[in-house]
Amino acid sequence: MKDFLLFSGSSNLPLASDVAKLLKISLGNVDLTRFADGELRPWIKEDVRDKTVFVLESFSYPMDEHIMEMVLMGDAIRRGAPKTMIAVVPYLGYARQDKLHRPGEPVSARVIAKFLEVSKFSEVITMDLHNDAIVGFFQVPVTHLSALDLLAVEAKKNMNLKHAIVASPDVGGTRRARNLAYKLDVPMIVMEKKRYLDRHDTSESFEIIGDVKGKTAIIIDDLISTGETVAHSAQSLTDAGATSVIVFATHGVLAGDAKKKLESSHIDEIVITNTINVPKDKLFPKLRTVSVAPILADAISRVVR
Ligand code: R5P
Repeated sequence: MKDFLLFSGSSNLPLASDVAKLLKISLGNVDLTRFADGELRPWIKEDVRDKTVFVLESFSYPMDEHIMEMVLMGDAIRRGAPKTMIAVVPYLGYARQDKLHRPGEPVSARVIAKFLEVSKFSEVITMDLHNDAIVGFFQVPVTHLSALDLLAVEAKKNMNLKHAIVASPDVGGTRRARNLAYKLDVPMIVMEKKRYLDRHDTSESFEIIGDVKGKTAIIIDDLISTGETVAHSAQSLTDAGATSVIVFATHGVLAGDAKKKLESSHIDEIVITNTINVPKDKLFPKLRTVSVAPILADAISRVVR
């Protein structure tokens, strides 16, 4: 096995520690201190020369701080002459801004890809990007992992799939839903989500394409942010006759009052992964988390074996 190190930013220390444990190493020693005015000054306290160095950071809230942390840690590490430096980004924030919805907006996902490249990361390992095409925004190799198999195992273990269907809450998620439906050997349906262009976080209505009467609906999405999408989808599915609604999503962004919205929704259970470290006060009984640490540890060990 190659000589390698794994450092963690501050976004998801529990996940980084779990990954390190599975790899049977200790996390690299880094100080993430700040000056009095708030400027970050990472200090890499390990010899990285000629080593393969991984840095794990989720671009979750506060995403701009975490991105800056990654950029500065990257610069600090590359100055120590590592053999190679690989970014492990379980949740790539800004991925939803992957196209121009109207003139005058940035393609932010492309900018984030550029940030990682200028910081001299020579590879990126990430999970369930909002859109597969984002891989093409990077000039460096990207390992695009998925939590879909993990979520499928959860569904098979804990649900009666006899009358189940998989639902994509929007047309963009059709491929993801089709893959899950295939893994579970159940039919799928699609919902058409309409959003107000000038109100980013508000979904307007959901049209259901397919039959859900008497079914257990499994909504699959890449992420839950405000909770609007899955809460409204669950409402529409229930109105159309679904008997219960379970939600699977890789990234639990859980912004603002998502917890309140989800708790009072028609959703019976929500299963997310730990790509984002959800603070304790945002957890609630019908939310369950499964760990992607084994998937990330496996991806890292394939690089260093
Ligand atoms: C949108 O295309 C995404 O796949 C998610 O459905 C969406 O971003 C979730 O956001 P929210 O929870 O705020 O509705």
